[in-house]
Amino acid sequence: MKKTLLSAALIAVTAAAFAQSSPRDIIPQPVSYTVSEGVSAGASPVFILTDKKFAKKIKDLKPFQREAAYEITVNKKGITVKTQTELGKFYAQQSIQMMREVSDTISFCTVFDYPRFPHRGLHFDVSRHFRPKDFILKQIDQMARLKLNSLHFHLVDAAGWRIQIDSYPRLHELGGFRVGTTYMEWQKFGYKHDEHGSGGYYTKDELREIVAYAAERHINVMPEIEMPGHSMEVVHAYPETGCLKPDGTPVDFSYDICPSSDATYALFEAVLEEVMDIFPSKYIHLGGDEADTSTWEKCPRCNALMSREGIENVHQLQSRMMKHFEKFLARHGRTVVGWDEIIEGGLPESAVVMSWRGTAGGQRATRMGHDVMMSPTDHCYLDFYQDAPAYEPEAIGGYLPLDKVYAYNPTEGIAPEVTDRVLGVQGNLWTEFVPTDRHFEYMLYPRAFAIAEIAWTPDGNKDFPAFRERALRRCDILRRMGYNTFDLRKEYGHRKEYYKPFNHLAVGKPLTFNVVDTTSPYRPKNPAESWLNDGKFGDWIYGDRWMGFTTDIDVTIDLEKQTDIHYIGATYFHHPTYSLGLPAKVEVWISDDGNDWTLVSEIEPEWLRDVSRTMHLQIGEAVSARGRYIHYIATRVRPWAYAWMFIDEIVVN
Ligand code: ACM
Ligand code: ZN
Repeated sequence: MKKTLLSAALIAVTAAAFAQSSPRDIIPQPVSYTVSEGVSAGASPVFILTDKKFAKKIKDLKPFQREAAYEITVNKKGITVKTQTELGKFYAQQSIQMMREVSDTISFCTVFDYPRFPHRGLHFDVSRHFRPKDFILKQIDQMARLKLNSLHFHLVDAAGWRIQIDSYPRLHELGGFRVGTTYMEWQKFGYKHDEHGSGGYYTKDELREIVAYAAERHINVMPEIEMPGHSMEVVHAYPETGCLKPDGTPVDFSYDICPSSDATYALFEAVLEEVMDIFPSKYIHLGGDEADTSTWEKCPRCNALMSREGIENVHQLQSRMMKHFEKFLARHGRTVVGWDEIIEGGLPESAVVMSWRGTAGGQRATRMGHDVMMSPTDHCYLDFYQDAPAYEPEAIGGYLPLDKVYAYNPTEGIAPEVTDRVLGVQGNLWTEFVPTDRHFEYMLYPRAFAIAEIAWTPDGNKDFPAFRERALRRCDILRRMGYNTFDLRKEYGHRKEYYKPFNHLAVGKPLTFNVVDTTSPYRPKNPAESWLNDGKFGDWIYGDRWMGFTTDIDVTIDLEKQTDIHYIGATYFHHPTYSLGLPAKVEVWISDDGNDWTLVSEIEPEWLRDVSRTMHLQIGEAVSARGRYIHYIATRVRPWAYAWMFIDEIVVN
């Protein structure tokens, strides 16, 4: 009974909030709008395709902006749309529809709108976990609403080849299936196309249907055919595309294809011919990221090619291959896009760079006169945790809450004279840890809203609290429409400690690393600097304020005078999936003079080390001691079960 009353109250509140809609409900937020007294209900828009005043208003915009521009007026005459193109008409309809999805009654208003960037995208990884065609169409509907116009389709990767290829059918028949249903299982068991295999691939007809469905919604589907790394499934299906052992026989296992094998070129040329036949996209993404290259270094065929052509290193060897396929695509009127590694051995002349390892690749490529698409991990990787890891399904990588996606400005760090080289921005949803449709949508919404807004709306219009309100309402609507979204209302938010500088006895005191971890990138660039006693705590996931150790943690802190000490401890970030673990033992020694030491604390986290979940575990205890020097030692488990230990601060009180 009580429950019924509560629901009725909620419905009343919701109905009141949704009584009428306005441009405040539109995501991405329009360039400008006004709202005035009065409402219009249920009118069909009238489109005006030639209007002098509107033409004048848009005459100084860039061509792609003019093409997409529209103006909506809602007044007592109804709804009028001014635009010059089908595209502008389409975007006006999306805005109207987005308002109508809130309420059929729209406030009197005006909207003037056009996009900030020409490339506004989402990237779907359907290799790690395959998603059926209808699910992709369902997401395209929302992309259209959000005025996103590029679907980067990550169709192939080591986990599975997802596109029918008639000339090399073992790619999809064998490479499209694997043993087990999760990525982690597949890592162990490999490919198998029989009753034990799971996975799948899109037939050409299905892909054509996706392409056409997207095109009707002014969305381009950019296929990615990954090479030369992430290509285990290709070598498995066609071993002649792999490297050779020093004795000239094929390697037993390789992450990469062999960039020196004629069979590799024959296969990928045939594949790309078939891909271009399905996808009219000007841009074809050829991957290029994270090539392992270890088989190339030992391969007699690769070595012979390198000495024959004076190729000095593996980056140049990869570049040679990317340049070959750039020319191949160019002959067919297409442009190659590649992950930012393609800069390293020499960038193909006409290539577009997709900057993912931060923004440095985008900065470099624009300076070299190349176009870029921005998708830096820190702001655009939608496979990262979107809330406190303890409350979330297991995820890969970092912590990317909605506010951090929204905070990104795609021209950040790009020299002002070349910002036009930034074609736009996209959110990347990788799916190693995203096994189901519902989980995929959960990761996508509402963060895709933020991607849409940073891609469309002028940076100067940004207002996160207002955006968050719109995102909350839009999530409610999506759930009513049968989408699964992250529940923004329950967002826990950033780690509270992250915001609070914390003063304790060791802050800013001289700290010596007795064991220097020279291999870890998770430390200040200046080795004399320490993040362990700067009075700052990290956020949920390792990053700037967390220091990562592959060695024991062994440091001495000089408090610079005799001091009463009541507590010593540090928080460890335990995340078994990333190979971040706890120490076997933490010891704290104290000394007056740096010579004679007394053990004041000794803690062994024992069984906690085996907990498989993510934890932020404070390891420390009250002590009763007096001294000047503190020797803090956290020893690794031997043999070491994890690669890293991460702590953000050694707190002394
Ligand atoms: C990537 O995330 N490896 C492009
Ligand atoms: Zn080779």
